[in-house]
Amino acid sequence: MDFVEARNLPGHVGIIMDGNGRWAQSRGQPRAAGHREGAAAVRRTVRLARRLGLRALTLYAFSEQNWSRPEEEVDALMQLLRDFLLGEREEILDNGIRLNAIGNLGRLPALVRAVLDPLRRDSENNGDMVLTLALSYGGREEIAYAARELAKAVAAGRIKLDDVTTDSLRSHMPSLSVGDPDLVIRTGGERRISNFLLYGLAYAELHFADVLWPDFSESDLFAAIGSYQRRERRFGLVGAAAAADAAAAAVSSPIESALAAVTGAITRIAI
Ligand code: IPE
Ligand code: IPE
Ligand code: MG
Repeated sequence: MDFVEARNLPGHVGIIMDGNGRWAQSRGQPRAAGHREGAAAVRRTVRLARRLGLRALTLYAFSEQNWSRPEEEVDALMQLLRDFLLGEREEILDNGIRLNAIGNLGRLPALVRAVLDPLRRDSENNGDMVLTLALSYGGREEIAYAARELAKAVAAGRIKLDDVTTDSLRSHMPSLSVGDPDLVIRTGGERRISNFLLYGLAYAELHFADVLWPDFSESDLFAAIGSYQRRERRFGLVGAAAAADAAAAAVSSPIESALAAVTGAITRIAI
């Protein structure tokens, strides 16, 4: 049985959902069959994330680079995306989920926009969990976009050059409107980031699950969260043990807030 601590959950989890094609190929099926099973894994994962009480879940569904795949595969993915949005609409609305999308949405076909845009609008006041779909998304592209926005503001005299800071850059990155990712999971076996959330990844915890995305189960998500909860996040500060010594030496140490951030509660959810 897996346990996760109820009070030390990652607030924002990102998932690089990889391995659909290999899942299908290993069964002698077309890649699209893997994407269809992948959509079922998305449904399971969204439900569990909501049940657990995650604040934000960002799913890497289609990268800017994925447009260069064979047209037939891209078309199948767009149709599946539409089916997913139509099929999950009621559940998203009924469960307090806000559906958000990031990426170069202008490249998406009308058949996707026709269902994506109304769902974003109709769910915008939901506040229990933000489900962000990264669609036609690239981390480098997002950084370039933020840089362009700031450059325009400098050129127009609205801000000064010194106002170009890590925080002002971040404020122009839609992927970080829900905060930095705390935990990023990649399935499929590769140990790489593939242009996902580059700027926000600075202090994210990474978890590589050696399972193809269509096989990603509830217990795999719990294993990832459990792994996250056993780690010590230091954010460039000193370790918790050293921090405890320092805190004992100086009663009101600035390290205490960092300590509080890395010390989880012991309430546990049994699965
Ligand atoms: C992830 O699975 C889905 C998308 C990138 C759209 P892949 O299609 O990349 O599957 P593999 O990596 O080829 O197995
Ligand atoms: C990353 O997977 C993109 C998504 C999961 C949407 P890819 O399959 O496109 O990444 P690479 O090609 O293995 O780096
Ligand atoms: Mg892949």
